[in-house]
Amino acid sequence: MPRDLIADKKTLEDMPPLSKEPAADSPEDPNPMPSLYQVPTSFIEDRFKRMTDLHPFASLLNQDDLDDCDWLEHTAFDENEAASREKIAYRLTVCGELSTGLFSSAYPTVSGPLSKLVKARKDFPSVDSADSDRKRILMGHIIATKFKGSNLVTDDAMAFPSDWKTNYQFGPSTGHHEEGDTICLHSLCVHPDLNGKGLGGVLLRAWTQRMKDAGLGKRIALICRERLIKFYESAGFKNVGPSVCQYGGGGWIDMVMEFDSVSHDEDIYP
Ligand SMILES: CC(C)(COP(=O)(O)OP(=O)(O)OC[C@H]1O[C@@H](n2cnc3c(N)ncnc32)[C@H](O)[C@@H]1OP(=O)(O)O)[C@@H](O)C(=O)NCCC(=O)NCCS
Repeated sequence: MPRDLIADKKTLEDMPPLSKEPAADSPEDPNPMPSLYQVPTSFIEDRFKRMTDLHPFASLLNQDDLDDCDWLEHTAFDENEAASREKIAYRLTVCGELSTGLFSSAYPTVSGPLSKLVKARKDFPSVDSADSDRKRILMGHIIATKFKGSNLVTDDAMAFPSDWKTNYQFGPSTGHHEEGDTICLHSLCVHPDLNGKGLGGVLLRAWTQRMKDAGLGKRIALICRERLIKFYESAGFKNVGPSVCQYGGGGWIDMVMEFDSVSHDEDIYP
């Protein structure tokens, strides 16, 4: 008999017989983790409770989402801050993988904030061709580009080449640079009818985590108004001070999240 099998036979003979009783020396966990379905709903975090009727799902955006993104951008932002339709088209075309849309679906006939939106805007696409009444609704989006040569958002990063449709450039001096390591978050918005339900916070956290995990850059930079500093800080961004950007009249604050300074499990989900 091979030597390994003899050794196994001896090991088996030395083992105690199997029993259905718990092992005497395995200490019982005084606070065992209940199965998820046993967790009382009162323990679900408030920020998730506020969106339970919305059933959000996230997806990358592309040129086919231009009408929805253009509509949402101009509904959520003041006119002097909203990106133009052409700028949105540029960003979705050259680097749609840096964007995320937060969607839901609804019928116009069912009550609630989503059906109100479906009734007000007839142009939402159908979820699938077999059920044309069920509409896919863009509730929030993040649209971004990458920039090379600055760790902060600049006016050049926010601009785009005027000839982008006819002359593709890998690394133009304005707009998206494929090899840039600063991911510039240009637009985060949630439809005003759905504000305060936690969608913006969840969208931001999910997106920052995806950018980091996918190794798409070394940092995320954005500019924001003073009132939103806390909102971004709670998602792991640092306030770097007043921005030099003059976009939309200036008066912005620079916020940055360096991926190196964020260990895998901390900070992004405070
Ligand atoms: C900013 C925005 C995306 C937040 O989305 P939201 O879904 O309403 O945000 P949430 O419900 O996730 O709120 C998260 C927290 O941020 C705070 N917050 C959200 N919007 C705020 C605002 N405009 N001013 C101050 N605080 C705000 C909330 O009070 C909340 O705090 P809490 O968790 O302690 O209650 C949304 O208000 C929006 O689209 N605004 C217009 C576009 C814009 O300004 N975008 C930011 C560009 S820099």
